[in-house]
Amino acid sequence: MRTRPVPADVKDLALAEEGNLHIEWAAREMPVLRLIRQRFLRERPLGGVRLSACLHVTTETANLVLALRDGGASVALCASNPLSTQDAVAAALVQLHGIATHAIKGEDNDTYYRHIRSTLEHGPHITLDDGADLVTTLHTERQDLLPGVTGGTEETTTGVIRLRSMAAAGKLRYPIVAVNDAETKHLFDNRYGTGQSTVDGITRATNILWAGRKVVVAGYGWCGRGVASRARGMGAHVIVTEVDPIRALEATMNGFQVVPMAQAAPLGDVFITTTGNTNAIDEPHLKLMRDGAILANSGHFNVEINLPALEGLARSHRPIRPSVEEYLLKDGRRLYLLGEGRLINLAAAEGHPSSVMDMSFANQALAVEFLVQRGTSLAPGVYPVPRELDQEVGRLKLSAMGVAIDTLTPEQQRYLASWESGT
Ligand code: ADE
Repeated sequence: MRTRPVPADVKDLALAEEGNLHIEWAAREMPVLRLIRQRFLRERPLGGVRLSACLHVTTETANLVLALRDGGASVALCASNPLSTQDAVAAALVQLHGIATHAIKGEDNDTYYRHIRSTLEHGPHITLDDGADLVTTLHTERQDLLPGVTGGTEETTTGVIRLRSMAAAGKLRYPIVAVNDAETKHLFDNRYGTGQSTVDGITRATNILWAGRKVVVAGYGWCGRGVASRARGMGAHVIVTEVDPIRALEATMNGFQVVPMAQAAPLGDVFITTTGNTNAIDEPHLKLMRDGAILANSGHFNVEINLPALEGLARSHRPIRPSVEEYLLKDGRRLYLLGEGRLINLAAAEGHPSSVMDMSFANQALAVEFLVQRGTSLAPGVYPVPRELDQEVGRLKLSAMGVAIDTLTPEQQRYLASWESGT
């Protein structure tokens, strides 16, 4: 199948057939999105709607885009990180599905933003974003397009934080649904998805044995909880660093050693940042690390490890295997930076498994439909995924997994609504 040419910039269209097989493979693990796609095809709720999407260009994203297309939308897509694109998937989307896709794995920053601008040329009614780079570019460079935009969605914690800051500063010009905050998103994607795919990315990059390693996890949000638990599951001794006292308490009671980064730095064999903040590993920490320590980031942006400081401490550096850069420091120690400090689960592996992205992207698809129905009635701001949609995703996922649950009896409903009966 070949479609009419669409605006596109991908690595190699000859990869299209291979990419399509990968998209098909992922679809087998995405039953909730499949049900939504089937309904979209029947009802066409997105007819005539233009979507500009800035998401990691993976097999799972391809399945989301195809569901939205089947709902009647016209979709343009670019990458939400320079290293996360699966080139074969991008080729398949262009060549076999006619989706205007601008994404090349390894693109430099200028190309990354050029691709965002090309995707905005689509003239979106609705934006889909992962990290808020598309939304900020729209607000700073293409304000002319803002009157046509009725809503947006945001996939990730970092993006939601940025959008809340924009809203607080009175700068956000349209309503955006925080898909990340749906329970069927962050409780599963951020925890089990990031947990597994981070361990996967580090393993693919390095082939280390985890058992017996000292692994330092910076941050104990949902991603950090997932990474710490999966690293422990592989037999590592896990140390957690935190700034939030309640999260630190939780990590302690979950059996992890909790210390400040300055104490963890000389102990760790592997460091994994999941804080969403800048310089979680800073110059003084780099100075304390052991020879041979491995540094990886699993947060959205490559700011969590102080990379300029690492460069400054180094005498030289060289790629030693794919996704691994060896830094030889002036004092003779070697530190190993994985995936240029970009999110390691997508830079060195394939991101979260399809089965968990099924729920995240079911929320995305339903949020887009919600915005088509309701966007124009909402003031600019950050909105939750409506509770009933979140619950529907949970119900459908359980059913697809063959898990049945109980329902409250009328007597139990009455009991919960009452206050009279006590001891
Ligand atoms: N974010 C994390 N994993 C992902 C995946 N597999 N596809 C799209 N976005 C992701």
